[in-house]
Amino acid sequence: MTEDIRKFLFEEYSKIFVNSEKFRLFFAPGRINVVGEHTDYTGGYCMPAGISAGTFVLVKPNSSAEFNAFSINFPDKILKVDISSNQIKENNWGDYLKGVLVELAADGYKIDRGFDGVVYGNIPNGSGLSSSASLEMSLILAILGINGYNIPENGSKEMIKLTLCAQRAENNFVGVKCGILDQFAIGNAKENRVIKMKCDTLDFKYSPINLKDKTIIIMNTNKKRRLEESKYNERRSECERGFEILKNYGIKKTALGDVTIGEWNELKSKVKSADEIIYRRLNHVVGENDRVLRAFESLQNDDLSRLARLINESGDSLKTDFEVTGDYLDAIVEAARSTSGVIAARMTGAGFGGCAIAIAQKDDLDKIKLEISQKYQKSTGIAPEFYNYDISDGAREIEI
Ligand code: GLA
Repeated sequence: MTEDIRKFLFEEYSKIFVNSEKFRLFFAPGRINVVGEHTDYTGGYCMPAGISAGTFVLVKPNSSAEFNAFSINFPDKILKVDISSNQIKENNWGDYLKGVLVELAADGYKIDRGFDGVVYGNIPNGSGLSSSASLEMSLILAILGINGYNIPENGSKEMIKLTLCAQRAENNFVGVKCGILDQFAIGNAKENRVIKMKCDTLDFKYSPINLKDKTIIIMNTNKKRRLEESKYNERRSECERGFEILKNYGIKKTALGDVTIGEWNELKSKVKSADEIIYRRLNHVVGENDRVLRAFESLQNDDLSRLARLINESGDSLKTDFEVTGDYLDAIVEAARSTSGVIAARMTGAGFGGCAIAIAQKDDLDKIKLEISQKYQKSTGIAPEFYNYDISDGAREIEI
């Protein structure tokens, strides 16, 4: 964290609350997903990493059983949440605080001490870098920290339990039917590493990500995601239907994410003639799961060009088979891929707008960004934004 952010948080805090000696600061990153998109809710594989932008929660305990929380991003009022009362959804950012509180209690955590806190996120909202899961995880750590619990290590069993709690808050209280990718990635990320995760068993492995003379750039289309929720749910149910069809053809697996390329190749022509749309959705999911395994292997073997090929294939599959990109993501990916010094580009996250990632030559970044920006603006009329975040550790307390 930069000194500037630290100073800014303290200044903002003292505008709202009385200063105190007992501050604690919690942080949860956003995430990118390098490969393995729209596979988590099929019980398949993803390969995310944490980024150095995220959500900061600066808190001090108060003597009540109430959270008084102020969001620097949504600064309309101090939100007051009485820990012991029945939590009611209000369709504002406070729903995340209430949602995680309800789910922590459901998991048996004893929460009875309140805090006064400010919340600040420096991930652009709606950009597909998981600002919501980052908010959930940072709030969970703040609540637990203030209530005397130890903050678990990234990758520990206890942290995994908290990521499931955050996912349930999002599914049950906030009402978004997301998978476990975002929360898991944010809770368990490690500096300069990707995580290969299996989304039903939650088995996972880290690998260093060594891009040599290249780096990952995040390209924001600045096109806010629209309709994404209904389309997202539509894709989920298409996958569920697809899995039923495969089971009718004799596949005996507990999750769609376990179906292998070999099994799919045996059945795909039958599925295609039965239902062309379902065929394409399944073709993406089965192929994408296999790409994660190969991409992880490529990183372990230091084979950057193979990794780049797989990222590009993933992007193409999300565009043509899974149909979750749209004009703006297509335009930025096309602009990046046609720029010299870029070896791979694809959308990241849910799609339908938001961000794409590219792997680009480090020493030429300014020129590369300028060229992508010009091409993208020419085709869409919108100026994109670029971020060079580091690959960072997961949710944690920051010493102050
Ligand atoms: C969103 C969801 C995740 C995952 C991705 C697509 O980020 O929150 O659970 O489904 O989309 O891979």
